[in-house]
Amino acid sequence: MSKITFSIIKADVGGYPGHANVHPELIEVAQENLKKSDILEDFHVTHCGDDLELLMTHRKGEDSEEIHSLAWDTFQKATEKAKELGLYGAGQDMLSDAFSGNVKGMGPGVAEMEFTPRKAEPVVAFLMDKTEPGAFNLPIFKMFADPFNTAGLVIDPSLHNGFRFEIWDIKESKKIIMETPEEIYDILALIGAKGRFVIKRVFPKGDKLPNDEPVAAISTEKLYQIAGEYVGKDDPVALVRAQSGLPALGEVLEPFSHAFLVSGWMRGSHNGPIMPVGVKNAICTRFDGPPRAVALGFQVKDGKMNGPADLFDDPAFDPVREQSARIADYMRRHGPFEPHRLPLEDMEYTTLPGVMKNLKRRFESVD
Ligand code: 13P
Ligand code: 13P
Ligand code: MG
Ligand code: MG
Repeated sequence: MSKITFSIIKADVGGYPGHANVHPELIEVAQENLKKSDILEDFHVTHCGDDLELLMTHRKGEDSEEIHSLAWDTFQKATEKAKELGLYGAGQDMLSDAFSGNVKGMGPGVAEMEFTPRKAEPVVAFLMDKTEPGAFNLPIFKMFADPFNTAGLVIDPSLHNGFRFEIWDIKESKKIIMETPEEIYDILALIGAKGRFVIKRVFPKGDKLPNDEPVAAISTEKLYQIAGEYVGKDDPVALVRAQSGLPALGEVLEPFSHAFLVSGWMRGSHNGPIMPVGVKNAICTRFDGPPRAVALGFQVKDGKMNGPADLFDDPAFDPVREQSARIADYMRRHGPFEPHRLPLEDMEYTTLPGVMKNLKRRFESVD
């Protein structure tokens, strides 16, 4: 069976209002542009907060110039519409004037997986706003390596072999492959530092699935390293395949029953709880948050996406939403104090250095 590629390419090309949401006309512009293309098998356009999300299936493989160029062109058209409507930060993530073959390093975020489809292929697209790629470390680790989350690791022989994790050091631009369950303590030593080490891909072990085809992929673009100044957080996306030798759909969603803390929120400068929501509630309002997560489920067949099912639009996730709102209250009471505000190192790429510069000459030595 021929391989299929599932790509999510996303960008903030203008918020409505502020950084809260995507204007419906931007979604229409993107849909119209993708509809005209004959290189896609299928697509779905949506948003999470102020991020415009292009979900696409095709047969061009990962890092395809044609697919990236189509996405870039779509974001450019949406930027024009955003300017016309006077949307906030129109073209925010379009950091280059000219497309050069691949959107990586140009502002948009990308998660892509090329794989040989199984008879039934459940794929979940996770979209987050107001946070950073390391926000996926905790949930992806739980899905694929934590037996308290994923019962299959204990009771399904086809999951017993564990998985291989590709982890990136995003400061040093290096990567390492590590194995579960053998190396879980060392893996956690790295990925607990989620601002620096991020899970990029997960691969299967054992003989049920091709070991070189990813079963999860996460976007790891670092906007501030590209832009050189703060232009917004690199709100991440991820793709996860489920079932038959992989975590079941419910095991893939289970980590989001806990409102874990992530970095981002107001001005990309605060720790706050993730809130899993349906698309209709993927709007960042309170203190520009709290950071949101959306999960869209598909059954991919012959290139068709067959979906989405809006998986967090479900009363089973009401308790975590309440927990998240309560934690948001608790964190907000700290105002400008750490650990609600991010530590100084993480503020280097915000507007804070401007304040520090003015104060610098007033500092005197203490002996
Ligand atoms: P599979 O082995 O077919 O993925 O079934 C597991 C399951 O769905 C239990 O919830
Ligand atoms: P975005 O990264 O989602 O544009 O948010 C930027 C921001 O400053 C929110 O307060
Ligand atoms: Mg924005
Ligand atoms: Mg955003």
